[in-house]
Amino acid sequence: MEKREQWGSRLGFIFAAAGSAIGLGNIWRFPTRVGENGGGAFVLIYLLIMFAIGIPVMISEFVVGRKGQKNIVGSFTSIKNTPLWYGVGFMGVLSGFLILSFYSVVAGWGVSYIFKFITGTFTGNVDTTEIFIGLITDPIQPLFWHLVFMGMTTYIVLKGIGGGIEKYSKLLMPALLGLLVLLAIRSLTLSGAWEGVVWYLKPDFSAITTETILASLGQVFFSLSLGMGAMITYGSYLSKKEDIPVNALLISLADLFIAVLAGFIIIPAVFAFGFEPGAGAGLVFMTLPAVFEAMPFGSIFGFLFFVLLTIAALTSAISFLEAVVAYFIDEVKWDRKKATLIIGTIIFLMGVPVSLSQGGITIANIDFLDLFDNITALVFLPLGGLMTVIFVGWVWGGKNALSEIEQEGVKFKLGNAWLFLVKYILPVVLFYILASGLYPVIKDYLPF
Ligand code: PHE
Repeated sequence: MEKREQWGSRLGFIFAAAGSAIGLGNIWRFPTRVGENGGGAFVLIYLLIMFAIGIPVMISEFVVGRKGQKNIVGSFTSIKNTPLWYGVGFMGVLSGFLILSFYSVVAGWGVSYIFKFITGTFTGNVDTTEIFIGLITDPIQPLFWHLVFMGMTTYIVLKGIGGGIEKYSKLLMPALLGLLVLLAIRSLTLSGAWEGVVWYLKPDFSAITTETILASLGQVFFSLSLGMGAMITYGSYLSKKEDIPVNALLISLADLFIAVLAGFIIIPAVFAFGFEPGAGAGLVFMTLPAVFEAMPFGSIFGFLFFVLLTIAALTSAISFLEAVVAYFIDEVKWDRKKATLIIGTIIFLMGVPVSLSQGGITIANIDFLDLFDNITALVFLPLGGLMTVIFVGWVWGGKNALSEIEQEGVKFKLGNAWLFLVKYILPVVLFYILASGLYPVIKDYLPF
């Protein structure tokens, strides 16, 4: 049997997996969801869910991938070969298509901002809302940037895991961190920023509903790249001597740190400049340029920021594409080049209605960005996570999973607690959150 490609080093893996986790989910989606879901209460639930559900699920995904040594579908079916588990894996492949098609459109907006800062669009007293709306409602321009972004993603995945994914991640993640810290300082020192900080951190418990909980759960899954098999795929390139739980913890903490930091940039600025926190998908693209306008050398920082945002988005996008491509390579027997090019093209095409619907060119008034985002984050990803923990706890067997983790001297101190969670608690909790969060949405369609 041909030996599976592996990560070049431990650090390389951590950077690549953190690179998958850290992306638009942290910088764009997290502040937006905090804004829509009432601030501090959402943040608190997010934290709870991340530790109680997110990290245990991430450990489960890594271990399934490392045991299976294959793509999402193949990793499940090499442990238990039934149509059900093929289907669960395939749902992950489908999520990859759906998420990347809107992810790339949003990332494309970011890429276009790099050029807007170079050409001085944001200098002087300009209305950042107008500029943003002008961009996304244009039928052609955002499609061009979506094409550019998908092109870059496809190119890196073509190069394979060591040369492409690992090399780029190691270089760029630290740079992003530095710039975010700088921006947070600027944003926090704007006048009027404090009100935002309070709103961000002070939980208003009356704002917590089942929908808030589902929204937090969806955000945890989205942000940690869980529930679609990206982490299964990355785990399959992991060597047996790696300590999976420690890696999962480090990756999740890094992801959390960046999300919280992004919140400290966006939310105070929203209050300082009088934007609406619930303004939705465009929040980041409208508030941030306003922050840059308000700082010396703002255009240079703006330029740098969007370069790094693009990179963070790229390291995530390659993990979706890699997960989907790995399926077609292993299971459908395409070669890497064919798989990458065909899938890259399909995803580009799926992004077209997403982009056009922002300008009102659509079918039945559907905003495809919201639609794809909501079905995946609120349904497919948590459902994928639910099935993964059932798989690990009951089908493959928790004990077997634990011995896969504990090899070559690795000791999982909280192993039994993790087993208990995965077997008894998480299946129930995940099912309950999914069912109660979705019930209000689907009850009109139910016959009873
Ligand atoms: N975690 C990525 C982000 O925060 C998005 C992602 C989701 C990547 C699912 C892979 C799988 O941007």
